[in-house]
Amino acid sequence: MISTELTPAAEPAFYFVGVTTGKSSIMKVFPAWARHLGISECIRGIDCKWHDDPEVYRTVVDFLKHDELSLGALVTTHKLDLLKASRDRFEWLDPYATQLEEVSSISKRDGQLRGHAKDPISSGLSFDAIKPGSYWGETGAELCLLGAGGSSLALTIHLMKQEEGKRPSKIYVTNRSEKRLNEMKEVHSKMDCPIPVEYFLCPTPEQNDAVVAKLKEGSMVINATGLGKDAPGSPLTNAVSFPVNGIAWDFNYRGDLIFMDQARAQQEAKNLQIEDGWVYFVHGWLCVIEEVFNLDIPSSGPEFDRLCDIAAEARK
Ligand SMILES: NC(=O)c1ccc[n+]([C@@H]2O[C@H](COP(=O)([O-])OP(=O)(O)OC[C@H]3O[C@@H](n4cnc5c(N)ncnc54)[C@H](OP(=O)(O)O)[C@@H]3O)[C@@H](O)[C@H]2O)c1
Repeated sequence: MISTELTPAAEPAFYFVGVTTGKSSIMKVFPAWARHLGISECIRGIDCKWHDDPEVYRTVVDFLKHDELSLGALVTTHKLDLLKASRDRFEWLDPYATQLEEVSSISKRDGQLRGHAKDPISSGLSFDAIKPGSYWGETGAELCLLGAGGSSLALTIHLMKQEEGKRPSKIYVTNRSEKRLNEMKEVHSKMDCPIPVEYFLCPTPEQNDAVVAKLKEGSMVINATGLGKDAPGSPLTNAVSFPVNGIAWDFNYRGDLIFMDQARAQQEAKNLQIEDGWVYFVHGWLCVIEEVFNLDIPSSGPEFDRLCDIAAEARK
């Protein structure tokens, strides 16, 4: 069931297809960015249920396709389901959308409806912003991904394309159930993977701690489980030992963020760099806005910094 009435847009409109779209910071951030970028400030949320009826997704995509002033959308949560239900409506899909069988960006160009999977790009831009590529070659550091969902998979795809000396020496992936681990293995098996990956089934936080304990000095630990936002808590226990000189990155920037508290408790003793998901949020949205409004938005430098400042000010 769609909780939003799909009425034709009276001005150029950008859409956010999610579950509880009204609660997202983007509702305040987008109009502020739009004023700066000189585009329409109109953002509309479309809330669908988790794994909604395929007919719902087809209705949403048909509306976006045919309503002239509805320019496009960013899709969260429903990325796989929406594409599965409405693949025949798209005239063009980018290679990542085809590889991952999902769309996070819906846009129109020259009368064609286009779908992109932007997560490999936006997660990669965020990863590179935390440490320059050369860091990995210089240190031989490793990466541990807690959670084997869509965003973890997207980041591994980005990393597999990095040249030698600019990528982690090894990737450890954990997940509490087997399905997503197997799906990730399946995608990796079909591509050239220069980084060794070890997959761990970890139904308990103690098992995640044990994987983190394997990491070399300087390594990065990412919380990509959603715990701390989508559900309370952390995938780790308080007894976890983060790698010395390491990096702790929570993909989320709101919620109880217990994972970040656990890292802060060891920040001084272990000399940890701690990051939240805010820059990931900014890259994720700007990659789609760029596509929908046919803009060229830099992903670093003064203009990008200005957009980050505008977003930080608007979310307060
Ligand atoms: N900052 C941003 O802009 C941004 C961008 C993308 C994602 N995110 C956030 O990142 C999080 C992950 O996103 P996603 O799209 O990858 O979600 P997802 O596809 O739902 O994946 C989450 C994965 O974590 C696993 N998991 C949950 N608890 C676990 C635990 N205790 N130990 C190990 N694995 C566990 C889940 O396992 P099951 O398969 O058993 O459920 C699932 O496979 C979400 O909270 C999302 O909001 C933030």
